[in-house]
Amino acid sequence: MSIEKLLQKNIDESKQGEILQLSENKKASRKMYIESYGCQMNFSDSEIVASILDKEGFSTTKNITEADLVFVNTCSIREKAELTVRKRLEFYNSIKRDKNPSMLVGVLGCMAERLKEKFLEEEKLVDIVVGPDSYRDLPNLIAQVEDGRKAVNVFLSLEETYADINPVRLGGNGVTAFVSITRGCDNMCTFCVVPYTRGRERSRNPESILKECQDLFNDGYREITLLGQNVDSYLWYGGGAKKDFKKVSADAKENSLNFANLLDKVAQVNPKLRVRFSTSNPQDMRVEVIDTMSKYINICDHIHLPVQSGSSRILKLMNRGYDREEYFKLVDDIKERIPNCAISMDMIIGFCSETEEDHKKTLSLMDYVTYDFGYMFKYSVRPNTPAARMEDDVKEDVKQRRLSEIIKKQQDHSLLHMQEKLGKTFEVLIEGDSKKSDQHFYGRTTHNSAVIFEKGNHKLGEYVMVKIDDCTSATLKGKVI
Ligand code: SAH
Ligand code: F3S
Repeated sequence: MSIEKLLQKNIDESKQGEILQLSENKKASRKMYIESYGCQMNFSDSEIVASILDKEGFSTTKNITEADLVFVNTCSIREKAELTVRKRLEFYNSIKRDKNPSMLVGVLGCMAERLKEKFLEEEKLVDIVVGPDSYRDLPNLIAQVEDGRKAVNVFLSLEETYADINPVRLGGNGVTAFVSITRGCDNMCTFCVVPYTRGRERSRNPESILKECQDLFNDGYREITLLGQNVDSYLWYGGGAKKDFKKVSADAKENSLNFANLLDKVAQVNPKLRVRFSTSNPQDMRVEVIDTMSKYINICDHIHLPVQSGSSRILKLMNRGYDREEYFKLVDDIKERIPNCAISMDMIIGFCSETEEDHKKTLSLMDYVTYDFGYMFKYSVRPNTPAARMEDDVKEDVKQRRLSEIIKKQQDHSLLHMQEKLGKTFEVLIEGDSKKSDQHFYGRTTHNSAVIFEKGNHKLGEYVMVKIDDCTSATLKGKVI
């Protein structure tokens, strides 16, 4: 049955006063299929969506052809990310046409927020458009679609943190999990779409965070990653947006909790529960956080510290809130307090007006820090961001060459870091099978290095000591001792 016919059928049934009955009957058997793109936060949000809909009787399926509801959780960070989603929508269209005509399609996340109602005009297939702060409204929106209307909710909230929602862990390994601690971002980096798609920054109630971590540990999980666009700016003062902190009472200010305080509490949930966090914007990372990391063995020795450029002039144009020297100082502080701490980065090349000289500064910054690994991107203009008003004047072939140069340098540095580990022994948390062989396990060290080793009698979720005897720039190999 075509979607138009299905919608018409629902309208007709609703006219006969049967729509509620229909929903109740369908409740027990409805199936939801969800795909996530983009950052870890999107994957975490999809687990919140699954939890909200689980209460409505939707179970999740990995088979799109049997789904009543298909969701795609989208990313707007670069143009390419949006194109990927558009391609998926074409695929859903073919599934709907050939195999599953009654399925409904919902778009979640950043693209939904950015494009709003326009999505319905551009993609006729789409029935529901929901921004990142409106997932609690999904049951109503689905009812609205069942009632024959298309549904949109892109309201951005100053309070919503989904604190009370117990995420349904989708497709996980039962060992590692994400726990979100902040939502939104107030930083306004000029190239970035996130402040517009995810709204103002707010922090989640620490009690609900600690409870989630404890529950995960009790369920057998052994590693959690605290998630936020900018975790170091976590600030709990009783709820509400961070921008309103200045208005609260002296008492509330006195009793507020920052990221270092939260990290300290999370580390104490259990010494066998590893703690990671992402992302740290360098402008908000405090020495207090590094000191807390060095206090607890179970807080992993790895900091993801996106730098974006090695040129202070470009950093200023990006509104990053630090310059090259301040970044070096932070890296020195980390290396002094945690000598072998792994540091990784995000880097953007080809930002507006970037010269060869700026690019050389990026290369020399990489030489100074020697990152363990990194994610590197060509600048991509995002509509309506402050940088969209600047000229995207670095030619595509120059962008490509600069990107290749930094990727090459990073591979060399990654290999150096891996080679330094040869002959040494590391504690590894077993997370799953190696992709290449079911006789081998995959796990990670405290430094976030991937390690492959023979299974022996070991089990998922166990900590083992592995002596490293081989490596590539991305993976260590070794034997359990
Ligand atoms: N909150 C993080 C970044 C989140 S976005 C921080 O503190 O930096 C993830 C990464 O995508 C960014 O670090 C940046 O390197 C990249 N990115 C964001 N906007 C981009 C754009 N317009 N073009 C290219 N890369 C971009
Ligand atoms: Fe984007 Fe900068 Fe926030 S990169 S997510 S505006 S810290």
